[in-house]
Amino acid sequence: MTAELIDGKLIAQQVRDEVAAKVTKRVAAGKSKPTLAAVLVGERVDSATYVRAKGKACEELGMGSVSHHLPADISQLELEKVITSLNADKTVHGILVQLPLPDHLNEERVLQLISIEKDVDGFSPLNIGRLAQKGREPLFVPCTPYGCIYLLEKAGVKIEGANAVVLGRSNIVGMPAALLLIGKNATVTVCHSRTKDIAAVVREADILIAAIGKTEFVRGDWVKPGAAIIDVGINSKPDATKKSGYRLVGDVNFDEAREVAGFITPVPGGVGPMTIAMLMNNTYRAAEIQEP
Ligand code: GUN
Repeated sequence: MTAELIDGKLIAQQVRDEVAAKVTKRVAAGKSKPTLAAVLVGERVDSATYVRAKGKACEELGMGSVSHHLPADISQLELEKVITSLNADKTVHGILVQLPLPDHLNEERVLQLISIEKDVDGFSPLNIGRLAQKGREPLFVPCTPYGCIYLLEKAGVKIEGANAVVLGRSNIVGMPAALLLIGKNATVTVCHSRTKDIAAVVREADILIAAIGKTEFVRGDWVKPGAAIIDVGINSKPDATKKSGYRLVGDVNFDEAREVAGFITPVPGGVGPMTIAMLMNNTYRAAEIQEP
């Protein structure tokens, strides 16, 4: 059996097209342009690349974007002042603080300060708390896990009643992905660095979300026949045939797993493009919530 590929690039483009159409309609009705403010602290090259890509996506979809690039040694107080002023700024609908922050800053206090209506990353404790509770709805769902679930649903994978295994328990992906799956009535197991016999746990998974950042960690013989695999990993692997000397691979050994799985996302072109697409959707929604 060869797995059906879940084309994240195509599905992300469809989401972006839908958001762009909604933005056009909103602006034509005389309402404000949905606008995202991105806050980047320090000089991490990967973070700067992500923030640039987010700003570019806003422009492509007819939305506004502002970015605040702050020095790596900014104080907690100064960073909090920036967030407070963005909370008060009526021209800004979504606030995103690119993570990770430099070590001297208190991430929890920064995220807590973001107004819940503007928390388009869904990382504020209020949004995560609502995600974790039965019968409560977060205003915004974190973008990468939201993208994972969206891909499963688009592929027609049944989540209700499925055994779902999440590899990784990060605040950004693993934990919110597990909460979303629980909310959709899956039976969820979260594996992490102290889990005993991960291979045996993965073998029971009808749905596998891999987000541990380990190159091709999941082997083909761990995969339950017909399982749906969502690979969140983006790891570089040495490859002498490439000009750059490396290529991007996921947390799952793709060539092995695709022979056993029912559905699988490629890397690149799977979950990656979904994160920004979902962020754009959240930013549009933020504008609709603040200025219906
Ligand atoms: N760092 C890695 N992923 C993300 C994300 O989705 N949002 C933010 N703000 N920072 C990140």
